[in-house]
Amino acid sequence: MNLSVNVAGLKLRNPVISASGILDETGDSMVALARVGAGAVVTKSIGLKAREGHKNPTVVELEHGVLNAMGLPNPGIDDYGEEIRAAKEGITRMLKGAGAGSGAHVPIIASIFGADAQEFAVLAKRMQEYGADALELNVSCPHAKGYGAQIGTDPVLVSEVTKAAKSAARIPVFVKLTPNVNNIVPIAGAAADGGADGVVAINTVKAMTIDIETGMPILGNRTGGYSGPAVKPIGVRCVYDIAKELKIPIIGVGGIMTGKDAIEYIMAGASAVQIGSAIYYRGNDVFRKAAKEIGNWLTAHRYESLDEIRGIALRR
Ligand code: DHB
Repeated sequence: MNLSVNVAGLKLRNPVISASGILDETGDSMVALARVGAGAVVTKSIGLKAREGHKNPTVVELEHGVLNAMGLPNPGIDDYGEEIRAAKEGITRMLKGAGAGSGAHVPIIASIFGADAQEFAVLAKRMQEYGADALELNVSCPHAKGYGAQIGTDPVLVSEVTKAAKSAARIPVFVKLTPNVNNIVPIAGAAADGGADGVVAINTVKAMTIDIETGMPILGNRTGGYSGPAVKPIGVRCVYDIAKELKIPIIGVGGIMTGKDAIEYIMAGASAVQIGSAIYYRGNDVFRKAAKEIGNWLTAHRYESLDEIRGIALRR
């Protein structure tokens, strides 16, 4: 079955994209994600300057998901061109070796975070120069002071940073939204008003865990963001709410482990999906597995394309 999708002009061989933050900091690791079937690869979030991130522990596995507070560790934009170039070259070589046609492509979506519109503009321009195929604006990291959700919970700021990125670059701009708001629709609307080509819903859910023997919060940062199976219904609801009100393309993310989970997001209105934590649960080749599961499910249910199920829940 042909699972290729076109999301805001970005052509993907399948709708299963690797989410930001896992195995995606170096060019080689991004090539590895493409090799195991990702339809597109999102980079680790990159800012203007190198950052060490929060102190350990930064990740803890809980019963129904994963809690993390990395603290936006990254090498900084000046040193990142090499990684984008290596990713693009490696992926082109890999596709050629696999006998894929000349139009075959696994886009690199550069995730960027800044403190204000000016920083987003600089990062957007640099990433485009490096050869990124699209941008994902991180306005949703739940625990980095001055960044992420501090912008992404304010519709005025979301619109401003989106406009800035759009003016600085010609490539498609996606805005990754936080679920940690009362209503995600006005935030998605602010991204659309700022000229976003699409939105990505959702980032992690703000959370914490405590060691009851010592009374100590477990994460070095005390609080963090929750991902994995527990957050899927939250993500599906956010995608559905946005799709009900807005025409903007949506990439669904949050708790997708299997092809069936991806189908649920697509039925809520998503054009494509991202997988992050499932790498941990099902291995690196979860992208190939999930794409195959989507195809098998569609065939078993006598659907001929993803278009037939996209947003079906909105009409029922
Ligand atoms: C981090 C966490 C996020 O949820 C995010 O969007 C970006 C960065 C982090 O802890 O590094």
